[in-house]
Amino acid sequence: MRRTRGLTAALIYAVCLPLCLVGAQAQTVAGDEPVLGPPELRIQQSGLASGALSLWQIRRAGLHVFSARFRKSDGFGDGPVALGGRPLLQNNGTFLRINGLDAQSCLGCHDEISAAVTPVIKGVGGSAGIANSAMPMTRAIDVADFTGNGFAGFDGRLINPPALFGTGGVQLVAKEMTTVLQQQKQQALQTPGTEVRLRANGVDFGHIVADAQGNLDTSGVEGIDADLVVRPFGRKGEFASVRAFDVNALMFHMGLQPVEMVGADVDADNDGVSNEVTIGEVSALEIFVTTQERPRWTPLNSYAVSGARRFQQIGCADCHRPTMVTRSPYLTYSYPEVETDPSQNVFYSVDLRQQPAGFQQFGRGIVVPMFSDLKRHDMGPELAESLFSATDQQNREFITVRLWGVADTAPYLHDGRAFTLNEAILLHGGEAQTARDRYAALSVAGRNDVLAFLATLRNPESPNADVLNSP
Ligand code: HEC
Ligand code: HEC
Repeated sequence: MRRTRGLTAALIYAVCLPLCLVGAQAQTVAGDEPVLGPPELRIQQSGLASGALSLWQIRRAGLHVFSARFRKSDGFGDGPVALGGRPLLQNNGTFLRINGLDAQSCLGCHDEISAAVTPVIKGVGGSAGIANSAMPMTRAIDVADFTGNGFAGFDGRLINPPALFGTGGVQLVAKEMTTVLQQQKQQALQTPGTEVRLRANGVDFGHIVADAQGNLDTSGVEGIDADLVVRPFGRKGEFASVRAFDVNALMFHMGLQPVEMVGADVDADNDGVSNEVTIGEVSALEIFVTTQERPRWTPLNSYAVSGARRFQQIGCADCHRPTMVTRSPYLTYSYPEVETDPSQNVFYSVDLRQQPAGFQQFGRGIVVPMFSDLKRHDMGPELAESLFSATDQQNREFITVRLWGVADTAPYLHDGRAFTLNEAILLHGGEAQTARDRYAALSVAGRNDVLAFLATLRNPESPNADVLNSP
């Protein structure tokens, strides 16, 4: 009975939302009503977890959250500045732009499938140019260069949006790696005084050692946080799941307060709206994002074959590990999430071999050709950010960016400073200095081979076709 009701609600929502709103005794003037719809038609976690909705219906709802242009009646914004909201640019009542409140929708930024052609191919879930870059944690900008050092002073972060295709495979790999590393942690605790090597999917994360009292020495951990959770999302590798990322994105970009952060029926930002994004809507958003098609390989010509070989030989593949395989094809979704134990609180699961994600089966799992080790690396002083103190290592560290789809996602590097692949490679430093120098030392033909290989790594051609333009 309840199932039928959930289903009916979803169908009514999809088919006759505009009519229903006209028919109802409207509380707001036309166009100002919440874009997520009236409360009774919104996706709730109970309905989603009960199995009443098909993957298509969930993806459709997730697409709606992803592309909705949120309004103030949805809770866009932080509420009054006097009560703790972010200040607004020229007190305009709506946005700040630097340090968030910088967009009306997720799609506003993640909207380019290919920048390799003119004009670009637009589409849901892609990357973006510099105009869509985000500037978190900014306190001061000095464009006039009062210090006279030739640098526009900027103490925040400047980051360019990556594409979101194939993120389900990435999340599955990361969860499995976390599970392995947590077992190694247990092993260390059970064998005090013995140095335990941290290795998952062939990637080395340093070592740990426990003492007899059960204290862990994590000073030897490399490229991930001391809690041994692999966090593949965010350019610095800060988020273990798309859900964790999305919740922050909703708050940062749009001042929307997900129920899971502030509680149900709580108007924490005093903007007159509570239940701004339901737990079910965040679930639908995460499932939508993580079931998008993976990027694709296009056929290699002889130059690209030689380029692929060089990519291995000169050490690019040490970090940009071409493929990772999983033990299972099933990506599970949890709420609430327990980062150290992804097997807890599972409410939904998706077979990533199926469409639309469409990963290739390998053994009992899938192969994820993402070109990353999901580990953070010191990329040297040239690529350093300015958020932390000048000597802080964190400024120089970035997770190995996944290269699948890279032919389509210019501009490159965390802040989009490299307009071409060649520029991006030559800007590598720090741990990647040797590989970079070997690339620079290749003949022009040799470098062109590497670039020909990278040019075969393409985004999906028409992602999300299953849910786009359907009723
Ligand atoms: C103003 C532009 C902008 C908007 C709006 C935006 N994003 Fe992003 N997105 C970014 C940037 C920049 C990054 C890289 C973030 C980082 O490194 O921390 C990113 C990263 C991500 C990632 C992690 C991808 C990865 O591989 O690390 C996910 C998932 C994501 N965004 C989802 C969303 C969702 C969902 C929304 C809407 C709630 C959204 N984004 C809105 C710019 C944007
Ligand atoms: C030590 C690890 C490491 C090695 C070795 C390495 N890279 Fe990278 N690569 C990274 C990291 C980390 C980034 C992201 C840096 C940033 O965002 O500023 C990156 C970024 C890139 C990008 C930009 C992609 C994008 O979407 O922005 C390309 C292209 C690239 N690498 C290719 C190569 C090639 C080719 C080689 C071999 C010559 C190589 N890399 C060697 C770690 C490495």
